[in-house]
Amino acid sequence: MAKNHATNSGLVGSEQTLSGAGETSTNNTQQGRLWGNLESEERFCILVGDSHDLVRGLPTIHSVVTSPPYFRKRTYGQASGEIGQEHELEGFLENLVSVFDAIPLHPRGSVWVNLGDTRRGDGLLMVPYRFAIKMQDHGWRLMDEVIWAKSVTHTDGSTSGHGMIEPARSRLNGNGFEPLFRFVKCAPKEAWTDWCAVSVPRAGAESTRYLPDELMVTTSAVEGRCLNNVWQIPTGGNRHEHYATYPVALCERPIAMTCPMWVCSECGQMRTRLVEMVPYDEGKRRDRRIGKYRHAEGEQLNEDSGRMDAGRGYVARKPTTTGWTDCGHTAWTNGIALDPFCGTATTGEVALKLGRRFIGIDLYENNAAIANQRCLEVIQELDRKGLNPWALER
Ligand SMILES: C[S@@+](CC[C@H](N)C(=O)[O-])C[C@H]1O[C@@H](n2cnc3c(N)ncnc32)[C@H](O)[C@@H]1O
Ligand SMILES: [Zn+2]
Repeated sequence: MAKNHATNSGLVGSEQTLSGAGETSTNNTQQGRLWGNLESEERFCILVGDSHDLVRGLPTIHSVVTSPPYFRKRTYGQASGEIGQEHELEGFLENLVSVFDAIPLHPRGSVWVNLGDTRRGDGLLMVPYRFAIKMQDHGWRLMDEVIWAKSVTHTDGSTSGHGMIEPARSRLNGNGFEPLFRFVKCAPKEAWTDWCAVSVPRAGAESTRYLPDELMVTTSAVEGRCLNNVWQIPTGGNRHEHYATYPVALCERPIAMTCPMWVCSECGQMRTRLVEMVPYDEGKRRDRRIGKYRHAEGEQLNEDSGRMDAGRGYVARKPTTTGWTDCGHTAWTNGIALDPFCGTATTGEVALKLGRRFIGIDLYENNAAIANQRCLEVIQELDRKGLNPWALER
């Protein structure tokens, strides 16, 4: 890694030349220089400054995973451009949406945003939903809404997970969940999505993990079932001095699912998994039949898989990877994940462990320095353990 330095509007972590990123944005106003190529082993870069200004000069971004400051919750420093300090909610929403609008996102890329609500005398302001509506007004498509369940109360009163306690007397503890939104600009079918990377295991069926658990803590099953949109993930800070961090497990799936491991540096193709649905033995004793249909003696049942209401014989099928798209250029580089409000770079840690490149931006030098250090340590740890995500992806 090149010499580390930090300036108020510059770069922490790397002074390599910008190359190998393929389709870089033409408006490269960034002070300092960005990515090296794969040979230079340049894997990340942390920028210090206001993301409003800095995102415009970035190379093409494949996935954004971030938790911006919440509206009037806490201050991170004294800088005037700090998001979340606006007096009016409308100004906060405008500022936030304008950052996402300015990112040079790949046409098939995704933007994931975790945002909590703010309570005023009148009650909840519904900040996350007003933000999502404003994104839609700006042409973004809301593809996924995930409930990040920090703490769940079961019918017997027991709880799973941890949410901050709250001494509320006239209402419920509001710290049980937060939303996580995924936005895209393209048609849903065009959005780059590796759903197998984040599938969940099928009961009684063998499957392989997308990456080993030293690299990805959330369990995945490449031949599994489509993941649903409520994720129970405990909160839990990290050892870095920053109060508003999100957990590693929360940003693993977004990166695995929407930031490609491989992107062609010549034509920009995002390498895509090719999947075939192949019948497998569910271990059931009798043929499964679904729907109300009763067939006459000797009649062949139509085989089908999927919808359970058609009155047909049901054949369980699971996704089997048959290969990956290949443009033929043999110029693969890794996809880039961006966190424009990176704090201590939780997104960075995950992106690097998952074999992607990372760009982080934070307004404050002290946060950027922590982020830089954390990313360096992740790379050193991977080297020390001889773990190479590019060779291990399934
Ligand atoms: C909620 S924290 C992000 C924490 C991060 N997800 C983590 O796990 O460490 C939001 C961050 O946004 C930064 N920030 C606020 N306004 C900003 C701006 N205009 N440009 C860049 N960063 C900003 C703050 O300094 C803070 O570190
Ligand atoms: Zn190509």
